Amino acid sequence: MQFTVAIDGPAAAGKGTLSRAVAEKFGFAHLDTGALYRAVGVKAEAEGLDPVAAARSLTPADLARADLRTLAAGQAASKVAVIPEVRQALLDYQRDFARRAGGAVLDGRDIGTVICPTAEVKLFVTASAEVRAHRRWLELGGDEAQVLAEVRARDERDMNRADAPLKPAEDAVQIDTSDMSIEAAVAAACDLIAKAMA
Ligand code: CDP
Ligand code: CDP
Repeated sequence: MQFTVAIDGPAAAGKGTLSRAVAEKFGFAHLDTGALYRAVGVKAEAEGLDPVAAARSLTPADLARADLRTLAAGQAASKVAVIPEVRQALLDYQRDFARRAGGAVLDGRDIGTVICPTAEVKLFVTASAEVRAHRRWLELGGDEAQVLAEVRARDERDMNRADAPLKPAEDAVQIDTSDMSIEAAVAAACDLIAKAMA
């Protein structure tokens, strides 16, 4: 069985949390595509590589680095993510993953629009910038105002780039999690998927 769930949205909207819960419930494989861009950004900086070369030579060890979830890695990711050749280098891996037998859920920015335009279920998860920054600050600590500024800067860059900008697919279902518990968001997503599978 091939079944693809595409989950897109801005930073810290709850994409990863939702994807992991959906993957567990339906037995789907999960790919966090943001980790690919984070790994490219961190690898390019750490090894002084051109981002395109970093994307083309990405290895599982690069994806297992401990420093991928930092604010700095998020910024580095969104900077390399504007480069079309970087996105192209990561395309086949993501599409192959989406088509694997047994079903797959991918989360990112362009899954429903570019990577898997024919995904059976497309979700666009949002929340206000303040709520999202607060969630990220709870995870990472530091100065909350700075976390908010970084989240906003990254959203701006992601929404305004020419290649695969962050935007909902026309047929995506939008879920605003600003005032929603994780459990309620998971229940809403599982309901949509179960209906699409029936
Ligand atoms: O993957 P993405 O950056 O979109 O977000 P995440 O890592 O899934 O969620 C960011 C943080 O917000 C996590 O600590 C979640 O536990 C939390 N969260 C929440 O408080 N309420 C939700 N409805 C979803 C996520
Ligand atoms: O978890 P969070 O939402 O904070 O970020 P992420 O999903 O790990 O993505 C990090 C950055 O990678 C994003 O800000 C985008 O610039 C880029 N990205 C992208 O361009 N396309 C994707 N499919 C996934 C991430």
